[in-house]
Formats: sequence, structure tokens, C-alpha cells
Amino acid sequence: MVSFKLHPLVAGALLAVLASANVNINGIPYHASSKPVAKIAGSGTALKSLTTTSDLVPLTVVESPSGAFTSAVFDGIVQNYTASDDVFTTGFLQVVYVKANGSVTLPKVSGNSTTSVFLQSSKNACSASLPKGPYFLSVSTGEVYQAYRLYSDIQGAFTEGVVENGDGTFDVLSAAISGAQSPTIGVLSRLYYTKSAEKPLAGVRLGVKDIYHIAGLKTSCGNRAYYDLYSKQNATGTAVQRLIDAGAVIVGKMKTSQFANGETATADWVDYHSPFNARGDGYQDPSSSSSGPGAGIGAYPWLDLGLGSDTGGSIRNPSQVNGCFGNRPSHGLVPLDSVMPMSPVLDTSGFLCRDAELWKTTAKALYQENVTFWENYPAKIYTSGFPTEASTEAEVVLLSFLDQLKTFLSATVTELDYNALWNATDLAASHGNLSTFLGYVYPTLIAQQQYNQFTLPFYADYAKAFNGRKPFIDPSPLSRWTWGQVNMSASATDEAIANKTIFMDWWTSEVLVRDNATCSDSIMLYPGTLATPTYRNVYRSAPGIPSGFSVSRISNFAEVPDMVVPIGQAAYNSTITLQSEYLPVAVDILAAKGCDGMIFSLVEKLQSAGIVKAVGTGSTMYAGEDEILM
Ligand SMILES: *[C@@H]1O[C@H](CO)[C@@H](O)[C@H](O)[C@H]1NC(C)=O
Ligand SMILES: *[C@@H]1O[C@H](CO)[C@@H](O)[C@H](O)[C@H]1NC(C)=O
Ligand SMILES: *[C@@H]1O[C@H](CO)[C@@H](O)[C@H](O)[C@H]1NC(C)=O
Ligand SMILES: *[C@@H]1O[C@H](CO)[C@@H](O)[C@H](O)[C@H]1NC(C)=O
Ligand SMILES: *[C@@H]1O[C@H](CO)[C@@H](O)[C@H](O)[C@H]1NC(C)=O
Ligand SMILES: *[C@@H]1O[C@H](CO)[C@@H](O)[C@H](O)[C@H]1NC(C)=O
Ligand SMILES: *[C@@H]1O[C@H](CO)[C@@H](O)[C@H](O)[C@H]1NC(C)=O
Ligand SMILES: *[C@@H]1O[C@H](CO)[C@@H](O)[C@H](O)[C@H]1NC(C)=O
Ligand SMILES: *[C@@H]1O[C@H](CO)[C@@H](O)[C@H](O)[C@H]1NC(C)=O
Ligand SMILES: *[C@@H]1O[C@H](CO)[C@@H](O)[C@H](O)[C@H]1NC(C)=O
Ligand SMILES: *[C@@H]1O[C@H](CO)[C@@H](O)[C@H](O)[C@H]1NC(C)=O
Repeated sequence: MVSFKLHPLVAGALLAVLASANVNINGIPYHASSKPVAKIAGSGTALKSLTTTSDLVPLTVVESPSGAFTSAVFDGIVQNYTASDDVFTTGFLQVVYVKANGSVTLPKVSGNSTTSVFLQSSKNACSASLPKGPYFLSVSTGEVYQAYRLYSDIQGAFTEGVVENGDGTFDVLSAAISGAQSPTIGVLSRLYYTKSAEKPLAGVRLGVKDIYHIAGLKTSCGNRAYYDLYSKQNATGTAVQRLIDAGAVIVGKMKTSQFANGETATADWVDYHSPFNARGDGYQDPSSSSSGPGAGIGAYPWLDLGLGSDTGGSIRNPSQVNGCFGNRPSHGLVPLDSVMPMSPVLDTSGFLCRDAELWKTTAKALYQENVTFWENYPAKIYTSGFPTEASTEAEVVLLSFLDQLKTFLSATVTELDYNALWNATDLAASHGNLSTFLGYVYPTLIAQQQYNQFTLPFYADYAKAFNGRKPFIDPSPLSRWTWGQVNMSASATDEAIANKTIFMDWWTSEVLVRDNATCSDSIMLYPGTLATPTYRNVYRSAPGIPSGFSVSRISNFAEVPDMVVPIGQAAYNSTITLQSEYLPVAVDILAAKGCDGMIFSLVEKLQSAGIVKAVGTGSTMYAGEDEILM
């Protein structure tokens, strides 16, 4: 039942280091942490009866509810643990440590019981407060090690599995299991954690886009040369640290397209392979650049939260096509220290998940005093690009959602032609239409700011380390940087910021306006995705300059929140499976700058009212844990 190689005990020096061990229980792979979290006194004597060839044995710590601990209570606890945690299995009941304040009647250990030994807190003291859940116990020392369940990253969403060292630094998980020949990710028992006001994210499993530096880990930014060149990072940035402080548990670093620039699967991803989108036939583009978090949240029930970044759509697009909740926040809500920059005037930090409640809780942890949850909502809805009548299944979903939202808010709905609105102003007379005025703002800012602030120092460090050489860069970022240097003047960035500011001031005073009662006088909706397939096995043209202006650029330039809400799914005929499959339908919601909390709270209320539903993982979005096609 339990089989693993005995770890070596490195003794002799001042320290005895227990090398972490990989363990198989009931056919499930586990990993024991390398450092003990507690020591149970006198357990060695009690464990004498155990017939085990290895020093580490599975242990479950149970907390008895107030009152007597009996066989029936024990059975109830085991049922509860099994139902609420993917790490616990009955294989961990070999040794049971009972924490109880009331009287204890230990269940009889029978011939076919899964438990061999009961220990209890009143007889065997524990050196540290040990939360309930599955662990490993050293027979020789009584030391207790945390248990990681191991999962294979079959969708290629991660770059590395990560463990916390116990001192605020992190390390790469030293375990590997079979499964699509991908990285192995370890997760700790959900039973260890209890959410509280101080730790609202306690035990929430977090994957972090690999442009955020984390102390003890190397960063790739989606580039092999970058990963190779720099040593382990010394600091964890504010954004990641806030989630850790709120109780989130980092399980891995997640893939990004290179330097967070737009790349389409598959040919653009030269250095690293694009993650796999679990929705539909499993061969749809996961979008970029927070595609690792998007693909992981859409696929894995064992992952709760993905931290991403959005400069030009990098959270929104993966959220749409992987079927997740995902937010581009108002610009500037959280400092971006120790994060790779693209364009500081556009860069934002947001996150992806499957549930509107967790979405809102995470917002508070990340944005702190910069988010306020309004309870009154605008009664004015603008739409952009909505059909008047549904002609596809996806449009039926879209219009039905709009109808329910309209009723929920007792709101008016107006289709907004922002191009015409702009045309009617004096600004249009002096600056031209929005396409000419703003069409080159985004490519200018990302190409020139990223090149000057990030690429040049990287090139210099690389040249120094490799005898004047230049590192390999994927075609997409390289063509953008080259364009920013060759085709645009050095003053283009200042001009782009000036154009952006004029647009922002106009939008703020004329379109989505701050309001004392509802934060924003209106919200604006546009279709995020309408279940349109984008296959990853298609040869496309070379990447170009991301010029032009459309509705998804409004939030970038006006600095307002743009939040993706999955509202349903629609069928398409897959050219891969030759069957009908489902892809997500999502809507984007905008409000005035700083009104993120109003939208978070509105979407949570819509979920409580059943108008929006938490999504599941896998091929379809509403089947709980659906299969992943590959
Ligand atoms: C036992 O009592 C202590 C002190 O009142 C309390 O902190 C702890 O949660 C109780 N344990 C259980 C398992 O009820
Ligand atoms: C099992 O969980 C339920 C619901 O959370 C709780 O009411 C009950 O007390 C738990 N039972 C035991 C034995 O812990
Ligand atoms: C062993 O398990 C069987 C089947 O679950 C059960 O009927 C039997 O009572 C158990 N025997 C003992 C000694 O607990
Ligand atoms: C971390 O600190 C060490 C010692 O100061 C330094 O050599 C190293 O370059 C730093 N790592 C990074 C990635 O900055
Ligand atoms: C809130 O936003 C302001 C403006 O961007 C920023 O300076 C400040 O650091 C933010 N506060 C927190 C707690 O992040
Ligand atoms: C806005 O004005 C431009 C000319 O400046 C024109 O080409 C365009 O059609 C107008 N757009 C709308 C929506 O009125
Ligand atoms: C800024 O707007 C002007 C029109 O007023 C346009 O000619 C120019 O190309 C724009 N600059 C950038 C960098 O987008
Ligand atoms: C914007 O103006 C340019 C030049 O006047 C014109 O070619 C283009 O069609 C216009 N585009 C829009 C969307 O109004
Ligand atoms: C940039 O300039 C080069 C050289 O003048 C030219 O060949 C190329 O077409 C330009 N690229 C774009 C995207 O305008
Ligand atoms: C909104 O509140 C501000 C400050 O509290 C106040 O100065 C302003 O007059 C209010 N505006 C409206 C429209 O009530
Ligand atoms: C799928 O193909 C069938 C048969 O050609 C067709 O009737 C159906 O409308 C198609 N469904 C979709 C969603 O395109």
C-alpha cells in the first residue's frame, strides 16, 4: 500500500537534513516536505507495533468537534475530509493523531481497519500547533512533514512547480511524475487552512505568471536566454507578497508569451510551447500573454487562482477564451515593483479564477484600500457591438444575459457609438477620428518603453556574459521593438502619452462618469468572446504591429477597469474531434476609473442570483470537472 525509497539521512555535520521523499499512497503520488513542521513527543514507543520498512508513515491529524470523540465522530470526520480535500485519502489513516478537548474513546483498531495506531494530544504532546489533515510522520524522530499531492501539468500551463521554504523564499519542487511529460506541481492539503479576516485567501492555490519575480526562484519572462542569464531573484514584489500575506499558497510559476507580447499559437511561440486551452476540443489558442494562468484555471480543479498582468489585453483575452473570470483593473491600483515592465503607463496587475466570490475576495487582498465595494449600481447600461437580434447560439446567450442584467438593475440599455460621439466633439476636428488619433499609441508605448527600460539592460547583461552576443528573441517582440526603433521617432512615446491623456480626459468627463451614489454613472458592456474557434494547428502570417483602435483599447487608454465575466457557452463543429463541442461566451464590463469594486460586487451578486454561474474545469464550463480532450 505504501511504497517509497527510504530517503538518506545526511547526518554527521551540525545539521541533519532529511531529503524530501516521494511517496505513493493508494496509487496516488505524494511528496513529503523537506523540513518538519512539528514533532510529536513519545510517538516512537506507540509506533512500535507498526510493521513498516520505511521511516516515513502516512499520518492524519484529526480535530474532534467539541464533545466526545467516538467511532461515529471519527467516521464523520473521515467522510468530511474525503469530501473537502483532494490531498487526503484513507491511506493517510495509518496513524491518526487525535486533537480533542472532550473525552476520547478511541475506535478499536481491527484486522481490516485502515488505521494501525491512534495517538492523542493529551498523551503525545506536539511541539507546534498542527492543523488537521494528512502528513507524513518519521517513525524514528516523531517529526511531522507536510504532504504534497503531485499533479502533472498536462496542459503545459506552468513553467515550474514551486514550494515555500518556510522563510519567505521559494524553491522549485523537486519531484517528477509521469503525465504528458510536463512539469509536476505539488499542492498542500486544503485541510491545513482556515480562512479568516486576516487570511481571507488561506489555502487558496495560486499560480503566478512568470514575469513576477519571487525570492528564491528564477524568472523567464517567456525567454530561455533571460532565464539562463539571471540568478535566483532576491525579492518578491508587492503584488505577489500581498496574496501570500492574505494566505494564498503559491504552487507554481505559469507560462507567459515572450516578454508578455502578443503571440498566437503555435508558430509564434518559439522559445516555449504555448499552453493548451482545455475548452472545447482542446486545440484552441489559449491566447496570450497570461495564457498560462488562463489555461491552468480553465483546466485544473486543483488550482484556484492565477496572477496575471494586462497591458493590452493579456488578462482579458485568456480569460475570455479559457472560460475564466479575469480583470484588467483601473491603472495604478497596486505597485508593480519586481515585475517585468512592458509599458508602465499601461501595465496592470489582475487575476483569473472560476468563481465570482473568490474574485472579489482576491481584489481586496491585492488592491487593499484602492478597492471599495459599492452596493448601489448604475441604472444606465451602454452596450458596444451588441446585435439587436440573436442569429447564433452565442448571441442568444449574450442577449439573454443583457436582458437579465437590465431587469436586475432596473436599467436602461443604449447602444453606444463612441466613434460618432467623439466625431461630434471639437477634439475630433483638431485630432482626427479615434483610429488616426489612437491607432499607434499602443504599439508605440509597448515597443519603445519596453525596449528602453527592459530590453537594453537585458541586452547589455547578456553581451557582458556571452562575449558581446545578442540573445534570441521570438519574432513577435523582436518585430515590435525593431519597429519602435526604426519606424518611430524618439519623441513618439511622449506624443502617444499626450494622445492617450486627451482621450482619457474626454472619456472620463463625457462617457463613463464618476457618480457619488453608484461610483460610475453607467457601465458599458461589449462581447468578450462569442464561442468563435481559433485553432492552434493553423499556419498564420508573421506577427505584425498591434496598431488600430477598438473597444478593447478603451480601458488601456482611459485607465478604467475592464472585467471579463463568463456568461455561458455555445456549440461549434470541431474540425479536430468531428463532433459538436462547446466554447465560452463572455462579456466585458467597463466602469469609471476606480470603480473596480462596484463591478466585483455586482458580479458577485449576479452569481448569488444565478444570472452568472461559477465555472468548472475541462472541455465544457458547467459540468463541474469535465474531461480534457487530448
Ligand atoms: C481545544 O481548546 C482550545 C482552547 O480553548 C481551543 O483553542 C482549541 O481549538 C480546542 N480544540 C478543539 C479540537 O476543539
Ligand atoms: C462534517 O461537516 C459538516 C458540514 O461542514 C459539519 O456540520 C459536521 O460537524 C462535520 N462533522 C464532523 C464529525 O466533523
Ligand atoms: C472488515 O470489513 C468487512 C467489509 O467492510 C466488514 O464487514 C467486517 O466487519 C470488517 N471486519 C472487522 C473485524 O472489522
Ligand atoms: C541577488 O543578489 C546577489 C547578491 O547580491 C546578486 O549577485 C544577484 O545578482 C542577485 N540576483 C538578481 C536576479 O538580481
Ligand atoms: C493606491 O493607488 C495609488 C495610486 O496609484 C498608489 O500610489 C498606492 O500605492 C496604492 N495603494 C496601495 C495600498 O496599493
Ligand atoms: C468619424 O469621422 C471620420 C472622419 O474624420 C469618418 O471617417 C468616420 O466615418 C466618422 N465615424 C463615425 C462613426 O461617425
Ligand atoms: C497622436 O495624434 C496625432 C493626431 O493628433 C497623430 O498624428 C499622431 O500620429 C498620434 N501619435 C501617436 C504616437 O499615436
Ligand atoms: C478615420 O479617418 C481616416 C482618415 O481620415 C479614414 O481613412 C478612416 O476610414 C477613418 N476611420 C474611422 C473608423 O472612422
Ligand atoms: C518600417 O520601416 C522599414 C524601413 O523604412 C520599412 O521597410 C517597413 O515597412 C516599416 N514597417 C512598418 C510596419 O511600417
Ligand atoms: C459628490 O461628492 C463630492 C465630495 O463628497 C461633492 O463635492 C460633490 O458635490 C458631490 N457631487 C454630487 C453630484 O453630488
Ligand atoms: C454542425 O454541423 C451540422 C451538420 O452540418 C449543422 O447542421 C450544424 O448547424 C453545425 N453546428 C454548428 C454549431 O455550426
